[in-house]
Amino acid sequence: MKNRKDYQSIEFNFEGGVDGMSEKMLTDHLALYDGYVKKSNEIQTKTDQADKSSANQSYSEFGELKRQETFSVNGMKLHELYFSQIDGDGEPKGIFKEMIEKDFGSVEEWKAEMVATGVASRGWAVCAYDFKDDRLHIYGQDAHNIGAVWGCAPLVALDVYEHAYFIDYGKTRGEYIEAFFKNLNWDFVSKMIEKWGIDKMHRGSE
Ligand SMILES: [Fe+2]
Repeated sequence: MKNRKDYQSIEFNFEGGVDGMSEKMLTDHLALYDGYVKKSNEIQTKTDQADKSSANQSYSEFGELKRQETFSVNGMKLHELYFSQIDGDGEPKGIFKEMIEKDFGSVEEWKAEMVATGVASRGWAVCAYDFKDDRLHIYGQDAHNIGAVWGCAPLVALDVYEHAYFIDYGKTRGEYIEAFFKNLNWDFVSKMIEKWGIDKMHRGSE
């Protein structure tokens, strides 16, 4: 790959604390994120050097690099979204709220599907804008690279891997999910929607 630059970890600062998420849990979680950034760089560097002529779907060095690249790169991107949006006050507002009301009826109905997806999934519950039908969807993922749907812009990423909550909550995943929504930064999501022009595309801006 030409012109590739190493990914750099974003420095997230949770000095003011996150309500319902301990410093220990966040610090350990950020270390995992940093690992995904480093592994993404390592994998893409090794891809350049790997023997492509021996690529094989059962086993090959090249095949394993391609298999793990999606895990690491999606792990990096989803965590960047997650950590960028847990510094808010959880108050539904802005264009994101308007889009939810149009596509789900109410914030309560949207949240109920998000929570159920978070409980039912093994990796992530992602609210994404899907360019196929120009509306919001909630997709469940069983790993960083299992369940992602192409042609979408992820807007809210709820991490439900055990590493995201076991330190503080043990097996009570539902309480952790409530803490996530209590801190969700709705302004951040609306800014992404406007930056990408999604508000103009939303069901043809009817
Ligand atoms: Fe995570």
